[in-house]
Amino acid sequence: MDTLTIVGCQFGDEGKGKIIDYLSSSYDLSVRFNGGENAGHTVVVDGYTIKYHLVPAGFLRARTSVIANGVVLNLRKLNEEIEFLSKMRNKFDLKISDLAHVVTDLHIERDKFLEGLRGKSSIGTTLKGIGPAYESKFGRYGIRLEDFKDPSTLLQKVELISSVYNIPYSKGYVEELMQNYEKIKNYVTNTVDYLHDELDNGSSALFETAQGTFIDIEFGTYPFVTSSHTVTGGVTVGTGLSPKYFTKFLGVAKAYTTRVGEGYFPTELFGDEAEKLRKLGNEYGTTTGRPRRIGYLDIPMLKRAVKLNSLDYLALTKTDVLGKFDDIRVGVSYIKNGSEIKEYNPNSKIDNVEYVRFDSWIDNRRNLIKFIEFIEDEIGIPVALLGIGESRGDIEKRFPIP
Ligand code: IMP
Repeated sequence: MDTLTIVGCQFGDEGKGKIIDYLSSSYDLSVRFNGGENAGHTVVVDGYTIKYHLVPAGFLRARTSVIANGVVLNLRKLNEEIEFLSKMRNKFDLKISDLAHVVTDLHIERDKFLEGLRGKSSIGTTLKGIGPAYESKFGRYGIRLEDFKDPSTLLQKVELISSVYNIPYSKGYVEELMQNYEKIKNYVTNTVDYLHDELDNGSSALFETAQGTFIDIEFGTYPFVTSSHTVTGGVTVGTGLSPKYFTKFLGVAKAYTTRVGEGYFPTELFGDEAEKLRKLGNEYGTTTGRPRRIGYLDIPMLKRAVKLNSLDYLALTKTDVLGKFDDIRVGVSYIKNGSEIKEYNPNSKIDNVEYVRFDSWIDNRRNLIKFIEFIEDEIGIPVALLGIGESRGDIEKRFPIP
């Protein structure tokens, strides 16, 4: 049994897709354990851009892909994604948990309604119904894939959600849900037992989170967070495997920081500087197309991600992009009332950030090494992989992950 769990160390969009795609050729299974189509994992293969939203990003290379129970599924989107991906790999093995919850149009309407109610303090959600789908799950009125086996159960559940939200639905909509289920039903199975059997019989697996540590429902910059557990801890309940199955944890961080939606971001850049880095890195949301907020790498934040996720290794992405920026910095501590603070705490307002500056490595690789070694010294774990370009092959392995 060899497992590696991959999480994002920032606010999502760290470039996990590319790292997962790269590593997945060494694993039997590629497993996604949280979130929904709010996620967007991008991989560029032979000039084609693939945007994974629900299917694990190791789909093209791993033997089997598993959408585990912790994921919430919009069946319309799932079908579109499978249809697209099946053109990239015509023989594939996909398993979808019968316990996974479904995101309906009612959840999407509810998401819009709640964001409207929040007004100026809106979260800036992706409006994909993710929060409401998890709300239904924990409120115990959600719809699971297993409910589709009995049309009357499905109808009853849709009715209940409609009553809770006071949002109407049409008979045609329930039929559409069922039609979408019919298209995927051959993939739906008991993934909990499947994963146990595979791992107990020696298969290896790569587990991937969607989003990043600081939009985790518990440990993120609450309330500006998503509604699932994005940290490594989420992998156990998100799959039905106990903690004993997980031994290696890889965090993915961008060489700078980006964020979509509102919330705490101490190293944020504004104006022309932000725009320049945004353009260099093409920092626009994969799911919503929104321009991402941009800032420097934040060491206290990264250290907190190492702690919360027990990270063993880091993958540092988009180093090529930052190398082209003319003012390269890393945030190392914060200043509050004249004192230096080294801990990341989204609930404590700070006055300033202390930065360390670096020279560009565009013509001098030694400067990139200095940048990496500085980060390693600060966070106490090694950088195993470097993202050095957009395409699949643009990854530099500094050492093999054992
Ligand atoms: P929700 O997940 O759609 O409810 O959105 C909650 C917050 O998480 C918003 O700030 C979103 O922009 C952010 N978010 C959700 N998914 C992702 C992602 O995959 N990458 C980056 N931000 C995300």
